[in-house]
Amino acid sequence: MMGRMHVWMLTASVGSFIVSLIHVIHLTCAEKGFVSIACCAESSTFTDDNTISWISDEGWFPLENTGCENITRQAENDANYDRVRIFYIESGRRICYNFSTTKNQNYLIRATFLFDDSLDASLDVSIGSTPTSNVKLSKDLEVERIFKATHHDVDFCLMNHYGYPYISKLELRPLGDLKYLPGKASGVLKLVSRVDAGNTGNSIRYPDDSFDRIWRRPDPKTVSLSEPTNSTTSIHDVKKTVPAKVLQTALTHTDRLEFLHNDLDTEDSNYTVFLYFFELNQSIKTGQRVFDIYINNEIKLEKFDSWAYGSAYREAALSVTASRSLNLTLVKVENASDLGPILNAYEILQWIQGTNQRDVEVIMKVRNELMLNNKENELLQSWSGDPCFPSWKGLKCQNISGSLSVITGLNISSSQFQGPIPASITELSYLKELNLSYNGFTGKIPQFPKSSVLTSVDLSSNDLTGSVPDSLASLTNLKTLYFGCNPLSSKELPSNSSRLITDSGKCSRQGSTKKTQGIIIGTITGGSFLFTLVVGMFCGCLCRNKSRTLRNFDRKSNPMTKNAVFSVASTVSKSINIQSFPLDYIENVTHKYKTLIGEGGFGSVYRGTLPDGQEVAVKVRSSTSTQGTREFDNELTLLSALRHENLVPLLGYCCENDQQILVYPFMSNGSLQDRLYGEAAKRKTLDWPTRLSIALGAARGLTYLHTFSGRCIIHRDVKSSNILLDQSMNAKVTDFGFSKYAPQEGDSGASLEVRGTAGYLDPEYYSTQHLSAKSDVFSFGVVLLEIVSGREPLNIHRPRNEWSLVEWAKPYIRESRIDEIVDPSIKGGYHAEAMWRVVEVALVCIEPFSAYRPCMADIVRELEDALIIENNASEYMKSIDSLGGYSLGGSNRFGSNRFSIPTDKKIALSPPAPTPPDPSPINTQALAPLEPR
Ligand SMILES: *[C@@H]1O[C@H](CO)[C@@H](O)[C@H](O)[C@H]1NC(C)=O
Ligand SMILES: *[C@@H]1O[C@H](CO)[C@@H](O)[C@H](O)[C@H]1NC(C)=O
Ligand SMILES: *[C@@H]1O[C@H](CO)[C@@H](O)[C@H](O)[C@H]1NC(C)=O
Ligand SMILES: *[C@@H]1O[C@H](CO)[C@@H](O)[C@H](O)[C@H]1NC(C)=O
Ligand SMILES: *[C@@H]1O[C@H](CO)[C@@H](O)[C@H](O)[C@H]1NC(C)=O
Ligand SMILES: *[C@@H]1O[C@H](CO)[C@@H](O)[C@H](O)[C@H]1NC(C)=O
Repeated sequence: MMGRMHVWMLTASVGSFIVSLIHVIHLTCAEKGFVSIACCAESSTFTDDNTISWISDEGWFPLENTGCENITRQAENDANYDRVRIFYIESGRRICYNFSTTKNQNYLIRATFLFDDSLDASLDVSIGSTPTSNVKLSKDLEVERIFKATHHDVDFCLMNHYGYPYISKLELRPLGDLKYLPGKASGVLKLVSRVDAGNTGNSIRYPDDSFDRIWRRPDPKTVSLSEPTNSTTSIHDVKKTVPAKVLQTALTHTDRLEFLHNDLDTEDSNYTVFLYFFELNQSIKTGQRVFDIYINNEIKLEKFDSWAYGSAYREAALSVTASRSLNLTLVKVENASDLGPILNAYEILQWIQGTNQRDVEVIMKVRNELMLNNKENELLQSWSGDPCFPSWKGLKCQNISGSLSVITGLNISSSQFQGPIPASITELSYLKELNLSYNGFTGKIPQFPKSSVLTSVDLSSNDLTGSVPDSLASLTNLKTLYFGCNPLSSKELPSNSSRLITDSGKCSRQGSTKKTQGIIIGTITGGSFLFTLVVGMFCGCLCRNKSRTLRNFDRKSNPMTKNAVFSVASTVSKSINIQSFPLDYIENVTHKYKTLIGEGGFGSVYRGTLPDGQEVAVKVRSSTSTQGTREFDNELTLLSALRHENLVPLLGYCCENDQQILVYPFMSNGSLQDRLYGEAAKRKTLDWPTRLSIALGAARGLTYLHTFSGRCIIHRDVKSSNILLDQSMNAKVTDFGFSKYAPQEGDSGASLEVRGTAGYLDPEYYSTQHLSAKSDVFSFGVVLLEIVSGREPLNIHRPRNEWSLVEWAKPYIRESRIDEIVDPSIKGGYHAEAMWRVVEVALVCIEPFSAYRPCMADIVRELEDALIIENNASEYMKSIDSLGGYSLGGSNRFGSNRFSIPTDKKIALSPPAPTPPDPSPINTQALAPLEPR
């Protein structure tokens, strides 16, 4: 059976942003879907004495985030494994192992935490959408949970309160048709104890137990007044859920058996106790062994006859609510039984409460419906895991019975939602309070079922149309209903709703002043980020429009489009109109590859001359190239369709004798990288106005890509060495080998491996593998910083705090100390305002969260402005220079008093969005393919 597993690190502090994808592996397991992970094991796979195959997690994690440790084993412990993996993460973050599961199948998951005095941590564990439960790591610990898979995958997560989380082993076992969880139960069973009562030796597990439950001999502390008994008679012809080997031993006593577990949770909790009986003495008959079963002094089964109904095997499941301790006592019925009680095995399982499965499904539907129009919505992005444990922001949950929580409140007021009200909201059958006010919801108010228990509804201040449906106004429990400040066609409520407290559809409620205040305060506090906001807002609208276009496109296109998303070839191959050259022609052109002019991820680049005298660059794929045939086809088909003055055009290609060759016009001025800090820079400094126009050209080229034919093409490897300069210093973006159409809704973004170059890689793309045009924007921001500072994006020969250009420059920009990051060789050669424009654009481009980054089109506009300012200044300077010299200095942001700069564009439109926490620092070098320079 094939399994699939992912390991994730998540942060649970603000929602569950995925911080770092660690590894995806495909598992093949011999034993009926078993997954057995031995953390830090030295061999990648091994089989233990029980014929269970283990796999190691070695190499799944970036080295700097995790480590391995050997545990000094105590002799009495029968675990023969002594390694642990430690995760060096901040507290509040989560490590999740994502297993593939079969829906509705029951599973057992078992995690082993070996203990050592050097390890000091407190952990929470959670499974799928169930609440976390605390694990006290003060001794070796095996944590086992039984759950029913509700989806095709399940997460097992560790979260630390303090110390570093660690784990030794993790095992997933399908439980076949074992009936631990009753049909409709929600929640998870936590194993307290699984005891093979008569066992005095080793634990029994796989292969004796085909589900690999581990049956241990009783802890002497828990048993009193008993005598072991055993039998070698073979046990067959019995339908049993316990391995024969477990049944072959038992405890008996002439009067009573008593088991006492003192280590239960201190709070009341529901437990199920499973008891397994098998009469080992074949000569004993019905009525000879009869006993009463008590749990915590309460009689649970009276006159239980282990040999009743003509079978030597019986089992019983007893429920009990208990705290602290559980006392299981079996007492012989006086005067009615010859023999004392017997017990072969028992299990104590504790219920961990969960959320009503139907509510979970409905709220997921609500979330998905909202997602359609609110992809970037922060509140929505924080909605993950179990809706109630801990409860999602905006949700209110209530416990209706011991192990069941339901959703009773939904308040997503003032959260910038767009689009229709999700119709699934009406299916939340326990929902009492609904508040959707102060959003941009459009369309009609949905119909509510009669059974709805809503008591208060607030729909005010949206863009809702139509009228308030009768089905809502006439709900029997409804007390308040606000619907003002909406362009509703009718403000009338049905006559039977006079009992309601409403705003009668008027727009003058108290709340509205609160909102205005929010904006004013926001505007004041957001002062220093005005620019960011203007760009952010503007782009937000623009991108939203664009995503709408994308969806329309998707709907119109045939089902093939979806499959074609990541194979560009099938969509544009028809338009190839470039030349195909024979190999010998290429050899002639390059004089048998005489002049090597560069080497990239694709291979070597040679200079050549076409018969008509045109100089060309010939890219020849090397056999060791990291770019494969797929990339070759990508570049071929894409380049043939793309024509823009700021993109390097493809002249022809050659695909002969396994050679993959591309022919481009030769760019005589090399790459921007070379001009900024390469050899060429040493000969002649690139002046600031030229840098600016190169930046603008490259931005225009990328804008063309991002908006190509209404679809977005993502370059995926924007960097200064991919921006070439022709003889007139025009910027031309090259190397489309990594280009991809932007993923569309429904595509699994995770199916792409992360590509790009260290130093330019978008941290969000890196961590989520979700590719968007904003990843190019991030990389372009890095290019802008290179242009400004003349520094390479990554340089480990500098002091540690200067390794990353982005991390080094950010604080200076934030403190307005631009001078300190500007390339010394252009000092005095730029206009402060133009420089500021560029630096500010760069700063928003490198926002850790893609939602806050501008679109390329906005960047083009800002750079155009900067260039105009710069050119005007240069003209002005020429006239000043002729009058006697005057040095321009980048003193401060608005340092220029020589012109009046129109600042009217810089108006805040809304309060600033709260800044989400930075994702944890990631070493981009760890996974990104580094390109040799
Ligand atoms: C841990 O034990 C293994 C062998 O079991 C050994 O090879 C390794 O060096 C040990 N590591 C440490 C840190 O002691
Ligand atoms: C677990 O893996 C599945 C399949 O790849 C994926 O759909 C799901 O989102 C993953 N869960 C998490 C929390 O990453
Ligand atoms: C159970 O069986 C084993 C081996 O057959 C024997 O050594 C042991 O003494 C027996 N125990 C009892 C209580 O009969
Ligand atoms: C089985 O039960 C019978 C009748 O109670 C008793 O005489 C016999 O000794 C028992 N056998 C064993 C092996 O305990
Ligand atoms: C356990 O329960 C039994 C039966 O109710 C009772 O007689 C016994 O005293 C209890 N033991 C303890 C330790 O509470
Ligand atoms: C235990 O289960 C019962 C019945 O389902 C429920 O009423 C009770 O609230 C539960 N108690 C706890 C502590 O979970």
